[in-house]
Amino acid sequence: MFAHILYGGDYNPEQWTPDIWEEDARLMQAAGVNMVTLGVFAWAKLEPEPGRYDFEWLDQVMDLLHAHGVRVDLATATASPPPWLVRLHPAILPVTVDGVTLWHGSRRHYCPHNQDYRKQAVDFVTRLARHVRDHPALALWHIDNEYACHVSECFCADSIEAFRQWLQQRYGSLDALNETWGTAFWGQQYGAWEEINAPRRTPSSVNPAQRLDWQRFYSDSWLACFKDQKSVLRDITPHIPVTTNFMGFFKPLDYWEWAAQEDVVANDNYPDPGDPAWMVRSGMVCDLMRSLGNGRPWLLMEQAPGQVNWRQRNLIKRPGQMRLGSYQVLARGGNGIMDFQWRASRAGSEKFHSGMVPHVGTDSRVWREVKKLGEELPRLDALLSSRVQSEVAILFDWKNWWAFEQGDKPSNDLRLLPLIEALYAELFRRNITVDFARPDADLTPYRLVIAPHLYLMDDRAAKNIGRFVADGGTLLMTFFSGIVDEADRVLLGGYPVLLRDVLGLWVEEFVVYLESQTNQVETTEGHRFACNLWSDIVHPTDAEVLASYREDYFSGTPAVTRHHFGEGTSYYLGTALTKDGLKWLFEHILEDAKVRSSNAVSSDVEITRRSDGTHTWMFVLNHSNDEANVELSQEGMDVITGVPVKASLVLEPKGVAIIQLDKT
Ligand code: GLA
Repeated sequence: MFAHILYGGDYNPEQWTPDIWEEDARLMQAAGVNMVTLGVFAWAKLEPEPGRYDFEWLDQVMDLLHAHGVRVDLATATASPPPWLVRLHPAILPVTVDGVTLWHGSRRHYCPHNQDYRKQAVDFVTRLARHVRDHPALALWHIDNEYACHVSECFCADSIEAFRQWLQQRYGSLDALNETWGTAFWGQQYGAWEEINAPRRTPSSVNPAQRLDWQRFYSDSWLACFKDQKSVLRDITPHIPVTTNFMGFFKPLDYWEWAAQEDVVANDNYPDPGDPAWMVRSGMVCDLMRSLGNGRPWLLMEQAPGQVNWRQRNLIKRPGQMRLGSYQVLARGGNGIMDFQWRASRAGSEKFHSGMVPHVGTDSRVWREVKKLGEELPRLDALLSSRVQSEVAILFDWKNWWAFEQGDKPSNDLRLLPLIEALYAELFRRNITVDFARPDADLTPYRLVIAPHLYLMDDRAAKNIGRFVADGGTLLMTFFSGIVDEADRVLLGGYPVLLRDVLGLWVEEFVVYLESQTNQVETTEGHRFACNLWSDIVHPTDAEVLASYREDYFSGTPAVTRHHFGEGTSYYLGTALTKDGLKWLFEHILEDAKVRSSNAVSSDVEITRRSDGTHTWMFVLNHSNDEANVELSQEGMDVITGVPVKASLVLEPKGVAIIQLDKT
């Protein structure tokens, strides 16, 4: 889609005078910037009064950028409605679950169901697109910004009415809705559509099927706003790709549905630089982004060059940290590195958020690091069409996430992401790249599929997973999976009824632990590991027991099992194992599944590969503050330095090497 690895950042020139624009363009060129995201919050500047447009400054900026070889990812600017729009149509303002109106004076102050907002946004985008359609700098459309950030749902009258319509479409009849939502319980039977409300503040917990549908509905609602604009842009500029920026594992939006609407997946990533596991968490986000686009190259749309301003304590990225995180993006299939923002603001909420040009200007560490990266990236253009291949997939489904975490469970302390992170970390430290996949996706490319807390499971998913194992795949399923259907109704017949044959077991009951409580599991080889949180009471039918509990009334019953089903094997993990236990489990599973780990050097050295069918590049990223010695099985050339690499490689602290491997 693009001829170069993209490099740049959010550019908000409306905060600066034209003499600074000139300097910006010169500096961008000096830093190797080839793309900026322009005008994200500029609606009020571009349409200062209803129907009066001021595109002159935008033209000047785009001309200037073009003259300096910088292309434009033009934002549609609808993420911050102008104050006049609120004055004319105060009902656009979002309303919280408690009925509190959220006012303007910040950003993202609109309800996606307000028709005045929708119409004004479409009118504005139409004008903007017509105005810039032939501009040579225009390369990409950036629709709105971080949909559902700050305000993910609105409880105004328009939203509730739209919810009723959405439900009518989904269920057709009230009888079907009543049946699916289980309204016979707690006397919730509906006799008219107007009786149905949003899941507002209620005396006790709201009907879980209602809440789950509301989350589906709200993800669809934001997507409808995106589609409004996309269809305008497709009509006026069919040659320009469209995107919007995701926020990693962001719960309110089902990004599988969203990614299908985008020409290129883009993501904003702001790991906490003080988090010792930041590279693992960021790696997981990168892998999700690649997976959302079915392996297609994706873009890092925003990261901080230094520190952010919105945490309680905003740690700064240490020397080399920004570069390392940037190369991780490329190592995991990304083709662009963009920052927020180009020049640090002097006013406004984000004035202490870092910029590629800091307040102190170019005599700064951040600028020097920005420039160095900009010098290096063009050496990587040969990688543009290469892809990352994975043999392992983790099943991830937003509906399941919503249902799993909505309360009223045996333990309401169970969370999906911590388990996924713990499992992912086992693979990450062995340098095994992971895809994320929908439970009903084509699983044939994988040797190993992991299903963590796949609580909500429809028939399609269950059949798909069963087929994967029957055809020779290896499955790891964890506790509290396969429990409910798509409406959060329990699947009766012994959990997880749809996969009992595949797993060779059934689960009778769930034992929840106090926070202070642990148990022990003992493996058949005699190893002992601690476990906590939860234990399933498992009855094996055909499964072989690999480890059993040591304590409590269920001492001696299975904690970990294995079952050969068809041509494949399924593992079941009925408890939360601590790190050493997971390590033991993965050693078994990976060997069984014949998953290769590429150059497992140490947990501080990350290694991935990208291939284009002709060439393979190996990325080696040293996360540590010490030198790393890496033994290589193949020789090649480091494409950043141009230096040949023989059997071993010494990487400086936070160092990166990208080796084009010799053909063998
Ligand atoms: C988000 C927004 C940006 C900016 C950054 C700050 O990603 O899209 O406009 O506020 O956060 O980190």
